[in-house]
Order: sequence, then structure tokens, then C-alpha cells
Amino acid sequence: SPLAPGLLAPGLLPPSLLVLLVFAKEDSQNNGFCWACEKANFRCNVARTPEAALECFKEKHHDLVIIDHRHSRYFDAESLCREVLLIHFYLNGFVDLFGVCCCRPDREEASVMPLIKSGFNRRYVENANMMACYNELLQLERGEVLAQFKLRACNAIFTALEQSQEAIEITNEDQVIQYVNPAYESIMGYQQGELIGKEITEVPKSEKNKPDLLETINSCIRKGKEWQGIYYAKKKNGDSVQQNVKITPVIGQGGKHKDRRKGSLDVRSTTSRGSDGSSQRRHSSMARIHSMTIEAPITKVINIINAAQESSPMPVAEALDRVLEILRTTELYSPQLGTKEEDPHTNDLVGGLMTDGLRRLSGNEYIFAAKQPHLPSHLAMPLSLNDIPPHVAQTMENEDSWDFDIFNLETACLKRPLTYLGLKIFSRFGVCEFLSCPEATLRSWLQGIEANYHSTNSYHNSSHAADVLHATAYFLCKERVKQSLEQIDEVAALIAATVHDVDHPGRTNSFLCNAGSELAILYNDTAVLESHHAALAFQITTRDDKCNIFRNMERNEYRTLRQAIIDMVLATEMTKHFEHVNKFVNSINKPLAALEENGSVKGILTSPDNRILVKRMLIKCADISNPCRPLELCIEWAGRISEEYFAQTDEEKRQSLPVVMPVFDRNTCSIPKSQISFIDYFITDMFDAWDAFADLPNLMQHLDNNFKYWKGLDERKLHSLRPPPE
Ligand SMILES: *[C@@H]1O[C@H](CO)[C@@H](O)[C@H](O)[C@H]1NC(C)=O
Ligand SMILES: *[C@@H]1O[C@H](CO)[C@@H](O)[C@H](O)[C@H]1NC(C)=O
Ligand SMILES: *[C@@H]1O[C@H](CO)[C@@H](O)[C@H](O)[C@H]1NC(C)=O
Repeated sequence: SPLAPGLLAPGLLPPSLLVLLVFAKEDSQNNGFCWACEKANFRCNVARTPEAALECFKEKHHDLVIIDHRHSRYFDAESLCREVLLIHFYLNGFVDLFGVCCCRPDREEASVMPLIKSGFNRRYVENANMMACYNELLQLERGEVLAQFKLRACNAIFTALEQSQEAIEITNEDQVIQYVNPAYESIMGYQQGELIGKEITEVPKSEKNKPDLLETINSCIRKGKEWQGIYYAKKKNGDSVQQNVKITPVIGQGGKHKDRRKGSLDVRSTTSRGSDGSSQRRHSSMARIHSMTIEAPITKVINIINAAQESSPMPVAEALDRVLEILRTTELYSPQLGTKEEDPHTNDLVGGLMTDGLRRLSGNEYIFAAKQPHLPSHLAMPLSLNDIPPHVAQTMENEDSWDFDIFNLETACLKRPLTYLGLKIFSRFGVCEFLSCPEATLRSWLQGIEANYHSTNSYHNSSHAADVLHATAYFLCKERVKQSLEQIDEVAALIAATVHDVDHPGRTNSFLCNAGSELAILYNDTAVLESHHAALAFQITTRDDKCNIFRNMERNEYRTLRQAIIDMVLATEMTKHFEHVNKFVNSINKPLAALEENGSVKGILTSPDNRILVKRMLIKCADISNPCRPLELCIEWAGRISEEYFAQTDEEKRQSLPVVMPVFDRNTCSIPKSQISFIDYFITDMFDAWDAFADLPNLMQHLDNNFKYWKGLDERKLHSLRPPPE
């Protein structure tokens, strides 16, 4: 027998199936099946070309062959299948091999007939989900592959019958002869062809048997019992031979008993049942896989591209291949930094601002300056807009201009820039009216929020929040922005800007992660600060009715507003910088540029998805707009942020923590270089996109000036904020 004896036993499956995957390229589908094989404990070979596949198959003779049918330009899956089958036949003399073809979803409705004709037994619709692959393999193993093994076992049994010295005859339940073995032929003198298909009654009997013998045998068999005894058979030449005969009924389908050494091993009926029954099973298992998988938009995109590839000329198809490669990565929006060594400043900024940190826990817990958010008691005397002292009001006169000098306000107002500017701007936008909240509540709220900014931070204190609020209000007045946003978006933006850095500890996310701070632990090292700012802002607001500006809002409107605020605060997190900018460019800049200035602009501007993108971009630009401010302001901010980073590096050294941004060392840092890198890497593209949308020539002019200023200092090899006095 060509098969191991174990296969004849009831547990027909070998301990581990051997699978051949024929995939021209390694992709997620290919990997899905590899992983599934591993999980199912199947052995698996992968072939990339038909030649390699055939070579490998000749050598190992797999139980299951899965051929990629999605890209006809790499190889012809159907002819490959035919060739594999041919080899299989030569090796085994056995036609049926289990072949699965992996198809694209758009083929789902197409007929499987061409596939069946080339020898595939099953179509698997593209689904790279590993569990889907794994389920498919398991179902194949328990279903069709097991059936294949049973068939192979039958083949082995027939081989044994052929070789047996005993004469053996098999009939079906109607006593029609199905099979006689060569020993039967030679003993009885008949040729197979003369007997198969005849009823036994048509074959001459010997008169030497007792007249009632046949009746005895039949009744015995009908009861499902074996009969054994002496029987005189009549050879073809008329001679009678005495035989020791054993007749065994085989219980088959329907429990019917068979006559005279006949069996239910009816190959034809088994095969035909296999094709009907199993195709139904196939159908239902496909249906299951589909209902299990919710198709993500990216999957749809990939499928569309796949379909387009099919009918594209080679260069296009190859370009699309590269597209697919990129789409299949998870880091769609993280540019690869090519020149790490060359620019340590960029590298450090990216490392410091864009990573949450491989958290290395140390014993040094970072202690927050203000553990408990506090409400200011010393400011119990409410101020109203009318109460703003004239010299403070004066500093805010031109607050609607981009060149507004926030530092004048800072010095004039005893470190309450956010409260004063907030009162003025919120009133300009009618925020209290929108929220149906008394002005006194807004005042308390602004004071409560401002009190939770750390005035000891050199950068992230409430002056920065006021600055971002100012930029936000400025952007909200731009024509395009106004066309795109509704009042609830404006209110959300102003509130988000006000709270967006509340309780900032003056350290970066990566620092907090490295230090194993409570916040990093609370937020799983993910968007630690931004999550905290958003959460704390709502805690402060809703804890006390006195400052709950949302108190009178209708529930649904509150939820919408709250969601928008949270989304914007989280958007200020730098790890998603490129994602936000790229989405904005792709969904808004490009479609707008493609349109003539006509009515359809409105659709792009006001779709709910795009409004979210506009708001994110707006607060991001406001948050890091320092390099677009007039030179003197820009220099002041640059000094403050550098100082805050220096302080972090000092502390990292003191506490033996990893130094997140080594270039920000107060002894060696070149501030001009760090500004140049920051502008190059984060600012230029973002503001180009924002300017294309909102039209901000004055900002772009400042950006240009400031960049030249830093370049000039750097060319003179100066590290400081300003050139030394002449
Ligand atoms: C913010 O920090 C600067 C020092 O960099 C300081 O002069 C300013 O007063 C602070 N602002 C507030 C509101 O605390
Ligand atoms: C942090 O991770 C744990 C465990 O996965 C999870 O239960 C918890 O909700 C996560 N917390 C946050 C804030 O994501
Ligand atoms: C707007 O312009 C585009 C491009 O010229 C055109 O395809 C579209 O039909 C126009 N839409 C309207 C509403 O005029």
C-alpha cells in the first residue's frame, strides 16, 4: 500500500498536515495562512513561483495546496493547479488532491466552475484576518481533507484487495456486482468486465448446493449477520468448485444490508455525494467567515486597488503594488527620518515630542507641582468685563490682530492673562449666550482653569494658553474657517484652546513615561498629558456649579460639545502630528484645489468629517504658532520653551533618567539650530497647508523672517537667542 497503515484506522488524519502555500509575494494574506498553519500545528512550505511550487510539491507531496489567485499577472493559478494535480496523479495514481484557491472578494459572485475545472476544490475569498485563515484551515482539515484521507484509505484498501490471494466479490444492495478482484477472476475464469454491473442471479449457479442454501444465506445477511460455510461456485467453464465462503454484510447509508461480500464502498456514489454535499458546506462556511469579519475601510481601499491592478498595464500595477505596501503598514502617518545622524536637533525633537516612551520604570517618581487641582480663593472677588482695570484693557485693545503682543498683557495683569483675554474673546464670540451661562460662571471657570496652570513653568503656563486662545480666535475669523464651522465648533475651539494644557507639569510625555509618573501609569503611556488636560478640564468644570459653564446646556448638545473639545485637546498631541496634517491635506486642501471656485466648495467645507479635520488643524496650528509670530514674540517664546526643555534635561540627569532630548542641554544647546529643525520638520508643511486653506499671508511672512533670523544666527555659529550687542 502506498499509504501508511495508520490511515486505515478510524483516526485517518496524520498527526500534522503538510501545507503548501503558493503566493507570489509575501503579503498579509500569505502571512495570515502561515500564522494559521503555525497555530494549527501544520507544517507549511511557501513557494513564490510555479516552478518552485512544483519542485517542492514533487519532493514533499503536500496534503493541502493553497494557491493565490488574486493577481493573474504573477502566474496562472489555474494552470498551476492542473500541473500540481498531474504530479499528484503520477505520484499516487490518485486524481483528487485538496487545492484551495484564494480569490478576491470581487470574484465572490463569479462562477466557481473554471476553478473546479482546473482542479481546485475550494475557493477562499481574500481575508487576511488570522482567525479567518485559521478557521478555514481547521474546517478544511475536519471536512474536506479528512474526506480526502478516507478516499485515499479506500484506495489503499482496493490495492490490498487487488493483491489478495482470496477471491473477493463486492455487490451493492441490489445485488449488482460492483467489483471482483484478480484472484476472483483467475479462480472463476471470468473477466471483470463480464461480471461488473450484472445481478448475481444472472450468474450461473452450481446445482451442488442445497436448494435452500441461498435462502438461508439471504435471510442471514438481511439480519445483518455474517454467513460462513461451504459453497459450490460455478466457474465460467461450467465446473463446480467447492469454496469456503464468508459473506459479510456492510452496513451502509440508510442502514440497508448488503448481500454476498458486497460493500457500501461504492466509490462512485461517494464521489458524487462529495461534490454536492461539500459544495453546500463550502457555501455555508464562506458565509460564516464573511459575517464574522467587519470590513474596515482600509480593506475596501485595498480591494479596490487590487481590482484596478488587474486591468492595469504593468508599470501602473507595480506602482499600485508599492501603494499597497504602504497602505498595509500601520504607521501611515509617520515619516521615516532618513538623516538621523546629520540632524540631532530634529532627531531629539521627534524623540522627545513624538514618542510616548519605552517606559523604563525607575524608583524616581515624578511629583507634580500641583497634585490636587485647586480653585483660587484669593480671587473670590469676581471681576466682570467692566471691572477690567483700564491699563489691562488697554493692552488688549488690538487683541483681534495677529501682531497683538501678549507679553504686555502678561505684565499688566498680574499673571492672569488667560482670565482677562478669555473674558474679552469669549464675549466677542457670544460664548455665554451660546451656553446660556451667566457671565459670573464664565469668570469663575476661567479663574479656575487658569489657577491650574503652573506659573512656575517657563513655557507651559497660562500665558501659553492665552496665546493659543488668541491664535484660535484669530483663525476662527478667517473666511474659510467661518464657512466651514458652526457656532458650536467655535465655542468648542475656544474652550479647547483655554484648557488644552491645564496642569501641564512642564515635562514632556516621554519624560513622564520614563519616570513612571502616576499619570503615565494612569494613561498607559499613551497621550498621557493630553488625556490628563482633557479629563481635568471637565473635572474642574463640573465639580462645582459655580464654575460649571455647561450647566444649562441641553444634554445632547453638551455631549456634542464635550466630544469636540476632547477631540481637539487630544489633537494637540504630537505623536499624531503628521496624521492630522496629512489627513487635512488629503481631505481638504487637495479636493479644494481640484475644484473651480463654485458652489461645490461648500460640501467639502461643511461635511462633518472635514469639520473635525479643520478644528484639529486649527488648534494644532494655534498651539505651535510661535514661529509665525512677529520676531520679538517668536524669540521670547523660543527662549521659554528652550528653558523648559533645559530644566527637563537637568532633572533627567539629576535623577539618572534617560535624557530624552540630549541636544537641549543648557551648556551646549544651539537654540537657533533647534528652532530651524523644529520649523523644518513640524512647521513649514503644516502652515503651508493651513495658509492654503485659511489664507494667512502675514503669518507666512513672519515665518519666513523668523526662519531667516535663526539661519543668520546659526551661520554666525551663535547658540543664543539674540546676537551679542555690537
Ligand atoms: C510664564 O513663564 C514666564 C517665564 O518664562 C513668566 O515670566 C510668566 O510670568 C509666566 N506666566 C504666567 C501667567 O505664569
Ligand atoms: C490601560 O490599560 C489597561 C489594561 O489594558 C486598561 O484596562 C485600561 O482601561 C487602560 N487605561 C486607559 C486610560 O487607557
Ligand atoms: C464646479 O466645478 C467643477 C469643476 O469645474 C464641476 O465639475 C462642477 O460640476 C461644478 N459644480 C457646480 C455646482 O457648478
